[in-house]
Amino acid sequence: MAPVATKLLLTDLASGIDRVPNNYIRPEADRPNLTEIEASDASTIPLIDLQGLSGPNRDDVIRQIGQACQQDGFFQIKNHGIPEEMVQAILNIAREFFRLPESERLKSYSDDPSKSTRLSTSFNVKTEKVSNWRDFLRLHCYPLEEYMHEWPTNPPSFRKEVGEYCTRVRDLVLKLLEAISESLGLDRDYISNNLGKHGQHMAMNYYPPCPQPELTYGLPAHTDQNLITILLQDDVPGLHVLRNGKWVAVNPIPNTFIVNIGDQMQVISNDKCKSILHRAVVNCDRERISIPTFYCPSPEAIIEPALGLIDREHPAVYRSFKYEDYYHKFWNRGLETECCLDMFKTLSA
Ligand code: OGA
Ligand code: NI
Repeated sequence: MAPVATKLLLTDLASGIDRVPNNYIRPEADRPNLTEIEASDASTIPLIDLQGLSGPNRDDVIRQIGQACQQDGFFQIKNHGIPEEMVQAILNIAREFFRLPESERLKSYSDDPSKSTRLSTSFNVKTEKVSNWRDFLRLHCYPLEEYMHEWPTNPPSFRKEVGEYCTRVRDLVLKLLEAISESLGLDRDYISNNLGKHGQHMAMNYYPPCPQPELTYGLPAHTDQNLITILLQDDVPGLHVLRNGKWVAVNPIPNTFIVNIGDQMQVISNDKCKSILHRAVVNCDRERISIPTFYCPSPEAIIEPALGLIDREHPAVYRSFKYEDYYHKFWNRGLETECCLDMFKTLSA
């Protein structure tokens, strides 16, 4: 008989079971089909060298970024300016956090998605029917001084190291936002100026080894509801991106980040940039850690297609809305329904 999930967190349930509990098992038509996955290379998921952004080749790098946003929705970046030691440090902190005793981790537990710092499991335990093979710690991290006091203090260097990492990733995002604005033919600061006070969230995703990875997901197919995501993954594969109707594995390349366009960028660019379906699968042998930074508008920001991208041939695809309305819809619908963008289209689109 399959075991019953009696623990709040998957990490504490997953060790010592040799079958997946029933509530994690997907219906047969909705399983990952792991034997059919293609591996990506630099030609399927572009790898862009950001070195040139501040030199004479800026235009060329901007062209590559524009093409990646508009055709692929996903790309990888190298020479991004975030030191390797900082990346290793944040991965180690995450690993140490998820290895803390259950009682210590549970101090941060909450199943309320509106909390700005919380440890939880799956996606939204209150609304979903099937659970996902993941625990996650989610933190708001901009402005840092508003949120840092809520963060865990164990491991002892958590706040310092994570704070420094968040600041560096934010600088990187701001550079990318300028490049994407330019690539769309907008003023360099157009996107940044239309996000209200800005927001930045981060997740530390922990995917324990899974005895039957073919039956379940770490995260099922979804698009990211924020503006742009900078994903750091450790050296264990697990991320899949949907390309031309097929799932492609984006296997880790050392010292790179994965960047993906979120729903808000698709709206602001009036459908030029693509927010693409992706998912995470798990494996029998190794735990996997991924650390996405979700850069977003602040809750009160009004999001709408850029006026400069609307004309007779390209009417506005989306209506204006408050970002917080989108955010709540996303968390309350559940990932199963995949894409929330359709609910914010204009009547004629
Ligand atoms: C996410 C996500 C992918 C991964 O957290 O939104 O898509 O590889 N994560 O963990
Ligand atoms: Ni995602």
